[in-house]
Parts: sequence; C-alpha cells; structure tokens
Amino acid sequence: MLRAAIVGASGFTGAELLRLLAGHPEIELAYATGDSQAGTRAADLYPSLAGAYPDLVFERFESARAAECDLVFLGLPHEASLALAPELVGQVRCVVDLSAAYRLKDAAQYPPYYGFEHTQPELLAEAVYGLPELHRAELAGARLVATPGCYVTTATLALDPLEAIAAVAAEHGAWLHVDGAMAGAALLLPECRPLAAGIGSADSIVINAHKWIGAVFDCSLFFTRRPEHLVRLMSTSPSYLRTEADHRTTQFRDWGIALGRRFRALKLWFLLNAEGVEGIRARLRRDIANAGWLAERVSAEPGWELVAPAGLQTVVVRHVPAGMGPDDVDAHTLAWARRINRSGKAYLTPTQLHGRWAVRVSVGALPTEREDVEALWRLMREEATVPAAGG
Ligand SMILES: Cc1ncc(COP(=O)(O)O)c(C=O)c1O
Repeated sequence: MLRAAIVGASGFTGAELLRLLAGHPEIELAYATGDSQAGTRAADLYPSLAGAYPDLVFERFESARAAECDLVFLGLPHEASLALAPELVGQVRCVVDLSAAYRLKDAAQYPPYYGFEHTQPELLAEAVYGLPELHRAELAGARLVATPGCYVTTATLALDPLEAIAAVAAEHGAWLHVDGAMAGAALLLPECRPLAAGIGSADSIVINAHKWIGAVFDCSLFFTRRPEHLVRLMSTSPSYLRTEADHRTTQFRDWGIALGRRFRALKLWFLLNAEGVEGIRARLRRDIANAGWLAERVSAEPGWELVAPAGLQTVVVRHVPAGMGPDDVDAHTLAWARRINRSGKAYLTPTQLHGRWAVRVSVGALPTEREDVEALWRLMREEATVPAAGG
C-alpha cells in the first residue's frame, strides 16, 4: 500500500482525485489538506463522497506530515504548487502536481501563458509529463510528475493546432480524439476546412449535431476509423441476438454499452430534409458573419475588449470602465451579464480566462438574426454603463 496525501483536497481537482483514489487498490489516503476548509468533513462539503469517506476531515497543511507519505498530490493553484514542490520533491517517493506549474518544459512560456515567472528551472527540467503513452519509461521512478491539463478551449471556442498535435500523436502511437462538439459544425463549410487541417489523422471525432448544426437535443455524431476497439470491449453475441444478417450490417450494439438505443439519427434526417445541407450552411455562414460583426463593434468601442480572437461564432468580451481595477472589473462583468440574463432578452455566459471574468456571446441559435445581435450590442452597452451598485 502506498500512503498518499492530497494537498488541496477540498478544491476541484483534489475532490475529484479523492473520488478516484477511493477505489484504488494500492493507495491508502493518509492526509487530506484544505486550508480554507480545515475542520470541515469532506462528506459535508461533497455529499457524494460520504460513502467512501464518512469520517474524513480536511486538515491544515503541514510540510512534515506530507513528507511522511509516499505519494503527494498537489491540487493547488499553479503558483502555490510552484512554491511547494521544492519542499516535497526528494522528501517523498513521488510528487504529482495537478496544476500547470511543471507542465511546460520552457520556463519562458510561463509569463505569457500563465502570467507568472517560473522560479524553479531545475525542477521544471526534472518533471515528467504524466502521459504514459509518451513517457512510460521516465514515469517509473519519477520524483515529480506533471499532469496533462485540460485547456479552456471551450470558453473561447479556441481551435487546437491539429497538424502539430497529430504529428506528436503519430510519433508516439497515441490515440488522437478531436472534440468538435461545437466547432465541428464548421466542417460543413468548405471555406472553414483549413481550420481543421490535420483532422484526417484523427482516430475519432465527435460533433454534437444538437449544437450549432441545429438538430434537436440530443444528437451527437461519433466517427472513428478504428471501431475494432469498441467491438473488442463491447460486443456481445449471445445466441438469441445472432441473425443471418449479422455479417451484412454494422451492429451498432457492438460499438457501445447499450443494446437498445433511441433512433437519434432520425432527428438529423428530419433536419437535413427540412433545411438541406445548403440551408444549414447558410445558417452557419450567417452566424459567423453576425459574430464577426459583433467582434468588430466590440474592438472598435472604447472601454470594450475582445478577450480572445473570434474565429467562428463565439465572441468573448469584457467591458473595462476607465480607472477600474481588475477585481472591480470582475464584479462589474458578472453584474452586467446577470442584468442581461435577468432581463430575459438574451442569455450570455460568464467565463474565466487567465483567472479573470469575461462574457461569452454564443451566436448560433436557429432564429438569431443580425437585428437580434444588434439589439444585444445595444443592451450590452446600456447594461454595462449602469453603476455596479445597481446590479
Ligand atoms: C468542446 C465541447 N466538448 C464537449 C462538450 C460536451 O458534450 P456532450 O454533452 O456531448 O458530452 C461540449 C458542450 O457541451 C463542448 O462544447
């Protein structure tokens, strides 16, 4: 049994790790810290953990107690992990950092991407990126493991550079899954195909037809060039399911867990019949143009910022009144977005980028026309100029 500590167990990644470790046959949780929740029962904060951890209480962090463990997980903000790792690496068998503090190899990339200077170049060089497909040999015996992250591409509809990623995946034999839940709809437009250069190397792709394409919820498209893995895991062939047609048809029951399934494709068929591919394409082009129009207005308006490039239909904005500090801008951002949402005239989603609040405008509902986006832009300017106290 390995004795493990989770530092920051009461936070988002720490709590998820608690859940995963509960079923681990070779790890015993010895110490779970959460300074802001010290004294709180884990089960009170996260009722879903009550079964696995009925008596666990979050404790204050003490370096000496963590050092008694074999394995220490850091579920902390990047800069806190950056500072704490040097205290623990070498004291315990392995430190696994869940933040991004040791994830990149080049220290120079930290200021532009994470907003802080990296002060531990030696540990950064030593840290092993925790993807077994890439670094299986180095992971055995590593003193510091950095975990792969999940980047906030959904917040801004950012697109990953698929060609570069495909090259790395090919080199290491890693599975390349392309999550095109939202942006994948743009593949219907020939002019957008270059955005997905490299997608031909994907092992699997998901596009949610119930998002921007406009099919009725729920209807996701899953493509894979390697269904044999699904069949290997999930096929079933009891005598009563065998038919003479088995070899002539694709048995989708062998590609997933359920045998019975809803006829989701019918919704897509209805949509294709109602609008036609050209109709859907026209709608996607309309939305891209409307989002582009809004992005231009935002960029040109004093006090407003476009906080991410608006390539397709998501426009992420912030209003920064002159002289206002970042914390007040955060409160102001949440307040004007809430006022708009409460008005019922439009619905916007606040999101965090680099730790600061911004607002997403997702242009893509079937009936949203240019005049709706123009009305929204008027409303945004009206609501953002109301004093924050009015929110
Ligand atoms: C990029 C991305 N991936 C995944 C999801 C989740 O998809 P699903 O609801 O099919 O799990 C979403 C949105 O819901 C998304 O925007």
